[in-house]
Amino acid sequence: MLCKMLLIVFAFLSISPVFAQKSFSVSSPEKLISVEVTNDNNELRYMVKYKNEIIVNPSKMGIYFKGTSGSDFVNSIKVTKSENTSFKETWKPVWGYNSSIVNNYNSLMLYCDIKGEKMNVEFRVFEEGMAFRYLVEKKTRETVNLNDETPEVEITGEATEFIIAQEGKAFWQPLSKNFEEHFENRHKTTGIEKIDSCNTPLTIKLNNGIHMSIHEAALLNYSSTILVNKKQSNTLSSFLAPWPDGVAVKLKTGSFKTPWRTIQISKDAAGLINGAQMIMNLNDPCQIPNTSWIKPMKFNGVWWEMHLNLRSWYAGKVHGATTANTKKHIDFAAANGLQATLVEGWNTGWETFIGKEQFSYTQPYPDYDLQWLADYAKKKNVQLMSHHETGNNIPDYESQMEAAYSQMQNLGQHAVKTGYVGNSALLGTNYWHQGQRMVEHIQLSTETAAKYQVSIDPHETIKPTGICRTYPNLMSGEGVRGNEFNAWSDGNLPEHETILAFTRGLAGPMDYTPGVFDVLFKEGTRRRATGDAQEKTPITTRVHTTLSKQLALYVCLYSPLQMAADLPENYTGNKAFQFIKDVPVTFDETKVLAAEIGDYYTVARRNGKNWFVGGITDENPRTLKIDFGFLSPGKKYKAIIYGDSKLTEFEKNPSAYEIKTMEVTNKTSINWNVVKSGGVAISIFEK
Ligand code: NOJ
Ligand code: CA
Repeated sequence: MLCKMLLIVFAFLSISPVFAQKSFSVSSPEKLISVEVTNDNNELRYMVKYKNEIIVNPSKMGIYFKGTSGSDFVNSIKVTKSENTSFKETWKPVWGYNSSIVNNYNSLMLYCDIKGEKMNVEFRVFEEGMAFRYLVEKKTRETVNLNDETPEVEITGEATEFIIAQEGKAFWQPLSKNFEEHFENRHKTTGIEKIDSCNTPLTIKLNNGIHMSIHEAALLNYSSTILVNKKQSNTLSSFLAPWPDGVAVKLKTGSFKTPWRTIQISKDAAGLINGAQMIMNLNDPCQIPNTSWIKPMKFNGVWWEMHLNLRSWYAGKVHGATTANTKKHIDFAAANGLQATLVEGWNTGWETFIGKEQFSYTQPYPDYDLQWLADYAKKKNVQLMSHHETGNNIPDYESQMEAAYSQMQNLGQHAVKTGYVGNSALLGTNYWHQGQRMVEHIQLSTETAAKYQVSIDPHETIKPTGICRTYPNLMSGEGVRGNEFNAWSDGNLPEHETILAFTRGLAGPMDYTPGVFDVLFKEGTRRRATGDAQEKTPITTRVHTTLSKQLALYVCLYSPLQMAADLPENYTGNKAFQFIKDVPVTFDETKVLAAEIGDYYTVARRNGKNWFVGGITDENPRTLKIDFGFLSPGKKYKAIIYGDSKLTEFEKNPSAYEIKTMEVTNKTSINWNVVKSGGVAISIFEK
C-alpha cells in the first residue's frame, strides 16, 4: 500500500478582491476552531478561538530581513486579496499509530503587498488546531553570479507572536547552554508567565481546561523556532536560532516558504495525542516511490553495556562491538523475534571521542567482522543496524555519507542510528545546534539515506516536524531526554514520561530506549569511564521507574523503531519479556483512555484484531482504571496484564511485577494499583 493516498479531495474556492477589507476569517470544518486576521495600521495580526472562546489574543506576524535584503515584512503589509478553500483527504502512512489519517481543513490565503514586494500568508484550520506560514517573494539582485556565495536573502527574525489569552500551566523545555541544543533538558511545569525561553512543542493547560501545544511543521531550509517570553507575560515571541554572525536564515532565492507555525488545541490532554497528526498533515505526501524496505522494527543491541560502563565503544580489553559479542546479541534477537540488532563502537575513531574524533563510517575495528556479521544476521532474519556517531562533525560526515550508506545497502543493512554529540567540530563554535545548518544536514542525511534504501534514527538531532510523512525513512530520533540518562546521571524524574508524551511526543516518534528490567543495576559496581581499567566504582544511579512502567512505555511513547534496551541476560528467563516480544511497533488505531499531563497516562492501541494498553503514573501511587470499552462488541479476548504487584516498591523492589491472565470483553473494566513511578502493560488477543 506504500504511502499512496486514498484521496477524497474537494475544494471550493471563494476569492474576494478586498482592497478596503481589513479583517478576514476562517474556521475549521466543524467550526470548533476559528481564526480571525486583521490588517489594521498595515500590520497583520491573527487571533484564535476555540468554541468562541479566545485562546490566542491578536498576535503580530511578519518577517525581519537584514538591511541588504530590503525592507522588513512587518509594519507595511497591505492585504490585496483573500481566498478561502477547503481540503479533505485520507492517507495511509507507511508506519504509525493510526493506519489511516484524515487531513481535513479550511484554509485562508492572504495576498499581501509590502511596498511593491509580495508575501502570501496561508492559514489552515483543522478540528485539531491551526497553522500558518509565510510564502515570500522577495526582490533579489537582478544579475546573480552563480559562483557568488552571498545569500540572496538574509532573515534576522520573525515578528511572529503567540499571545496566550488566558492563564494556565505550561510544560516547557528550557534551552541548553552554549548553543548545544540536544533537546535533552528536563521539562519544567510552571505558570505561563514563568516561561523565559523554551523549545517547542510547548504544551499548555489553560485554567479553563483547554489544552494547547505550540510547535512547527515542515522545518526545511530554515532555522528552528524558539519561544521567548520577553516581557515575562503571556506574550511568546519567536526567536530563530541564528548562524554565528547573528543572521537567522540565509537563502539563495528570494522565493521561499517558512515552516508552518502550529497550535494544536483540544478540550483535554487526550485529544492532543491523535490531534498531533496535524503536524504530519502539514507536510507533503511521501516522496519515496518504493517504501517496501522501510520496516518498523524492534531491536536490541551492543549499547546499554557501554552506558553502564561494562564495555567500551573503542577497541580494547572490554570492547563491546566484537564479533563474538555482536553474534550473541544477534542470536538473542533471532531467538526472540526482534527484527534488528544495533551495534555501536564498530567503526574506527572512538579513541578521541568526544572532541577530536576522526570517525570512519566504513572501516570496522579489526575485532569486528562486518561482512561476516551482516551475512550471519541476514541468515538469522535479523537486520544489522549500524551506528554513526559524528561528534557533530557534520562536514566530515557529509563527506563520507554516500560511501557509508552505499556500503550499508550492499551489506543488506536498511537502518542506521546516527548521533551528533557536542558542538565542537561543527565548523567552529557558536553554531546553534538547531540552526539552519543542522536542519539542512538532517534533511540531506534523510534524502541521501533514502537513495540507498536506508532508514535513519538520528540522536542529538533537531526536533521532528512531521517530515516523516514525506520521508518515512526518517523513522525515529532522539531529541529527547532518553532512558540513557538513568544510566549515568541523576536520571529522569518519575513524572518525566507523563510529560514527554504530551510535549516532545506530539512532534513525532522518539527513540526513548525503554525496556530496562534491571532497574537497580544489580551488578552493584561498574568499570570506570576508562572502560578497560579493571577498577570498579559503586553504582549510584538507577532507572527511576518500576519494571512494569518500562513495559508500558512501549505503548505510551510511540516509535516505529523500539529498542529492547537491556542486556540479554536480564531478559533471559524473565516472563515479563513476553510483553516486549508481543507488542507491535505499528498500530491501526489509538485511543487515549485517560490522561493528566505530568500525573498519569493510559492509552490503548490496536494492531489488527489485538490491542495493547500502557498505563503510567508519576511519583504518586494511584489506581489506574482501565475500561475495555474500546474492544469490539460481542467479541471475547484474552488479556495478559503485566503490572506492579503487592510486592513492587519503587525504592527497594521496582523489578517486582505480577502477570494476570483473564478473559475480557468490551464490558470489562479493571482497576490496577500502581506504585510510585509504576505502570501496567496489557496485551489483548482476540480469541
Ligand atoms: C548519545 C546517544 O543518545 C546514545 O544513544 C549513544 O550511545 C551515545 N551518544 C554515543 O554515541
Ligand atoms: Ca543523547
